[in-house]
Amino acid sequence: KPVASGNTRYKSPSNIALVKYWGKKENQIPANPSISFTLNECATVTTLSYRKADRPNDAFSFEISLDGKKEEGFKPKIKTFFERVYPYLPFLKEYHFEIETSNSFPHSSGIASSASGMSALALCLMEIERNLDPGMSADFFNRKASFLARLGSGSAARSIKGSLVQWGEHAGTEGSSDLYGIEYPYKVHSVFNDYCDTILLVDKGQKQVSSTVGHDLMHNHPFSKQRFDQAHENLSKLRSIFESGNLDEFIGLVESEALTLHAMMMTSRPYFILMKPNTLEIINRIWAYREATKTHVCFTLDAGANVHVLYPKNEKALVERFIADELAGYCQNGQFIHDHVGRGARKI
Ligand code: PMV
Repeated sequence: KPVASGNTRYKSPSNIALVKYWGKKENQIPANPSISFTLNECATVTTLSYRKADRPNDAFSFEISLDGKKEEGFKPKIKTFFERVYPYLPFLKEYHFEIETSNSFPHSSGIASSASGMSALALCLMEIERNLDPGMSADFFNRKASFLARLGSGSAARSIKGSLVQWGEHAGTEGSSDLYGIEYPYKVHSVFNDYCDTILLVDKGQKQVSSTVGHDLMHNHPFSKQRFDQAHENLSKLRSIFESGNLDEFIGLVESEALTLHAMMMTSRPYFILMKPNTLEIINRIWAYREATKTHVCFTLDAGANVHVLYPKNEKALVERFIADELAGYCQNGQFIHDHVGRGARKI
């Protein structure tokens, strides 16, 4: 029997894809598998308060606030999310919900909050589900949370558990699924422990093309088949790279994935460019610095102008100095966020 009322709170991280998800089928099924580092500092904290309605609501009943302020603008997205997950959480119409959310990163920083936000909300809803089935295994809990998060935002499926998460079926990865993310099941060299990611805030403006539209443009894209095949190949290659810790190969693969993601945007119809001049300046600086210092700093990109600077922990002191001295100047208001690989979401 569902409990009458309560509240639950989760902190859930953002993630950065190494092999990118770009293109999807019906029901948020990815067109290709992807893999990401889970971040630590960039996270959303969501508190979900729920109380049972006297009789089931006809529609979903909820309020949402960001940093204590009601956010009517978020409602359509949450409503769509509720509609999608309702078949798997039939208790949804029996409650009134208050969703309070806050992000650790600055508003409109161009850092997508959909992965951390949707995974945090999915986890809160799973707590209610667990009240109904207290014997549920932790494994099932996490898998279903990832499944639900996926229905909010594809990449959110990768923000539940683990430092390295794969989402999407791939012949070379046992247990992988299009429906939810799994912790990467193979050996990962210690050089990837606590891998660093500094996010350079190049452009904080609203993206001119949403990721939903971007995914859609992969239908009828002239290079989609090659791209989806390539993602599979890159995942296969990553398996031995992760095992050996070969950073030169890692860098080549990760940077190529980032540029391919943007190449897909530039070659769709309509075409678009999300990189800004400073994105390219930064990439060139990173290449020059890597060449000069023989360090293992590299970049990756999301669907935006910001640059994620990736480097191993033992190069942290050097690379952080390079970022402060040379790269910060290309960021809006000199802003960047030092982050590193984390362990996934947790209840707080
Ligand atoms: O989760 P969505 O639908 O916003 O897609 C995000 C896709 C990328 O961030 C560009 C790549 C990825 O795999 O995270």
